[in-house]
Amino acid sequence: MAKRKLMMLGPPGAGKGTQAKRLGLILDVAHISTGDMLRDARRAGTSLGVEAARYMDAGELVPDAVVIGIVAERLKSSDVADGFILDGFPRTREQAEALRGMGVELDAVLNIVVSEEEVVRRLGGRLSCGNCGAVFHREFNPPKERGVCDSCGQVGLFVREDDQPDAIRQRLVSYEAKTSPLVRFYRELGTLEDVDGSLEPSEVEANILAGLG
Ligand code: AP5
Repeated sequence: MAKRKLMMLGPPGAGKGTQAKRLGLILDVAHISTGDMLRDARRAGTSLGVEAARYMDAGELVPDAVVIGIVAERLKSSDVADGFILDGFPRTREQAEALRGMGVELDAVLNIVVSEEEVVRRLGGRLSCGNCGAVFHREFNPPKERGVCDSCGQVGLFVREDDQPDAIRQRLVSYEAKTSPLVRFYRELGTLEDVDGSLEPSEVEANILAGLG
C-alpha cells in the first residue's frame, strides 16, 4: 500500500510547505501545517494565537505542550484516518515522542535538504497569501499578476513577520539546536528519506513521488 502517513522535515524555507501542499493534492490527504494553524489562530485573535505570536515573531519555537495539544486535537478528525502530511511537526524530540504516544506511526519522513545560503535567499523573497495560504517567491515563483494570489485572487500578498532578517537567523538557530536532531532520530527508526530540495519545485515533487513508490 502507498505511503500516506507522511511528515516533512527540514530547515525553515526548505520548501516543506510548498511540497506538502502539492503532495496533499496529489495523494488526496490532509495537509497539517502547525505554522498555518498558529497563524490562523493569530489572525482570529484567540488566546492561543496571541501567545504563539510572541514566539513566532522572535523566531523561537512555541512551547511543546501548546503545539502537541493542537496536533492531538487535529489528528482526531475523520479526514486524517486515511493519511496526512505533517508539515512543521514534530520539531523537537518531545514532540516526536508525543506523536508516537498518540499511536501514530509515520510511513515516511521526507527530509528536505537545502543549504543555509539557499534558505536565506528563499525566505528573504517569500510572499504569502493571507486568504488561502498559497506561497510565492519574488524571484523563484512570482505570482502571475504582481501582488495578486494566483490561487484565490486575493489582492495584497504579505511578507511574514518571521521572514525579517533577525527572526530568520533565530529560526535557523532553533532548527539546528532543537529540530535537526530529529534527522538522526527518524533515520534510526528507518523512516527517513533524504530529498534534494535544491532543485526546481516540480523536480523535488517528482523525486518525492518516486521515493514513495
Ligand atoms: P512554519 O510556518 O512551519 O515555518 P518554518 O518551518 O520555518 O518553515 P517555513 O514555512 O518558513 O518554510 P517552508 O520549508 O515551508 O518553505 P516554503 O515552502 O514556504 O513555522 C513558523 C513558526 O511557527 C515557527 O518558527 C514556530 O515559532 C512556530 N511553530 C510551527 N510549528 C511548530 C512546532 N511544531 N513547534 C513549535 N513551534 C512551531 O518555501 C519558502 C520559499 O521558497 C517560498 O517563497 C517558496 O516559493 C520558495 N521555494 C520553495 N521551494 C522552492 C524551490 N524548490 N526552489 C526555489 N524556491 C522555492
